[in-house]
Amino acid sequence: MNADDIIKREAEFLIQFFRRQKVVFERGEGCWLYDVEGRKYLDLVAGIACVVLGHSHPYFVKKVSEQLSRLIQVSNLYYTTPQVELAEMLGKITGMDRFFFCNSGTEAVEAALKIARKVTGRKKFVAFSNAFHGRTMGALSVTYKEKFRKPFEPLIHPVEFAEYNNVDDLNKAVDNETAAVIVEPVQGEAGVYPAEQMFIQEIMRLRDEYNYLVIFDEIQTGFGRIGKWFAKEHFGVQPDIITLAKGMGNGFPIGAIGVTEEVAEKLEAGDHGSTFGGNPLACMAALATIEVLEKENLVENSRKMGERFKEALSDLGLISRGMGLMIGFEVKDAAEFVKKALEKGVVINNTSEKTVRLLPPLTISEEEVDHALRVFSELL
Ligand SMILES: Cc1ncc(COP(=O)(O)O)c(C=O)c1O
Repeated sequence: MNADDIIKREAEFLIQFFRRQKVVFERGEGCWLYDVEGRKYLDLVAGIACVVLGHSHPYFVKKVSEQLSRLIQVSNLYYTTPQVELAEMLGKITGMDRFFFCNSGTEAVEAALKIARKVTGRKKFVAFSNAFHGRTMGALSVTYKEKFRKPFEPLIHPVEFAEYNNVDDLNKAVDNETAAVIVEPVQGEAGVYPAEQMFIQEIMRLRDEYNYLVIFDEIQTGFGRIGKWFAKEHFGVQPDIITLAKGMGNGFPIGAIGVTEEVAEKLEAGDHGSTFGGNPLACMAALATIEVLEKENLVENSRKMGERFKEALSDLGLISRGMGLMIGFEVKDAAEFVKKALEKGVVINNTSEKTVRLLPPLTISEEEVDHALRVFSELL
């Protein structure tokens, strides 16, 4: 297979939504990707925070393959064991009471917004500067970037954007009309900016005053990414709704929302649904992912390797931000840095002109972290 040929055909047959790096990947093993020409790359993107167990993890492959030959899809007209087991397991690790399954992050956000309106009987959402919650109409409405939103207006309204980490601004934005405040505990697409403890506390305090719902968007932060199972643990809070996806299925498409019993009580059959959501194959992928995260102590590895990355970056004179293996740092020309790293066999991603983001598999080893840092030092 020839990479140039694939790149040429992509340009001919795909809608040009994406600006891709010029590499055609064929297979992966652990933290490593291999292109069609057999070149090897250290993967510090992991399908944008998805492949938490690394590529082709043997136990994950076994469990998903077995389920693949047993049963893929029956719809939610019927019961299946993996869906129920996954909901029960998620209850244990998230501390939420009830779950609904979908197929992506943006779908989880859609469900959360609909539920907030139904449960509160109110219309307004409060979101934050630089927030990213997805690309479908509802999720897009609470996503900050004008460039993403403008061509698709009118979107859902009213939505008020307050400045992230600004308590005064938050106080001005929320009121008795607010259905929900939706927040990323660490902003990912914006370039890895963690929320301050005080800011999250204020969102929770104002909830008690105004009776809105708090939606924690843990699509990027969840499943060990930040060195804890979920960011809600880090902040020590109980949101009303959490949204999940990305790392949940180790790259297999699955999303979910978790809600409290109080929220669930106000919902009824027909309020929401999905044909594929919660299918046994996707649920088995998520169950296997959680099992391996637990067995291999990968949440702790995320914390430890995150620290190692940050210390080494600082030794190189690069100031980094983030938690666990969700790390951002600034360079002069991030696009150029990403391109040069790829040429040297390290896959990284930039979220803006200056910000580089690292989201490796949570299985990454000390040697692999050190290898990445050696390559970065050559690029500076
Ligand atoms: C915090 C957050 N919410 C929502 C989404 C949307 O998820 P998806 O791309 O699976 O629709 C993303 C994706 O980057 C995200 O980071």
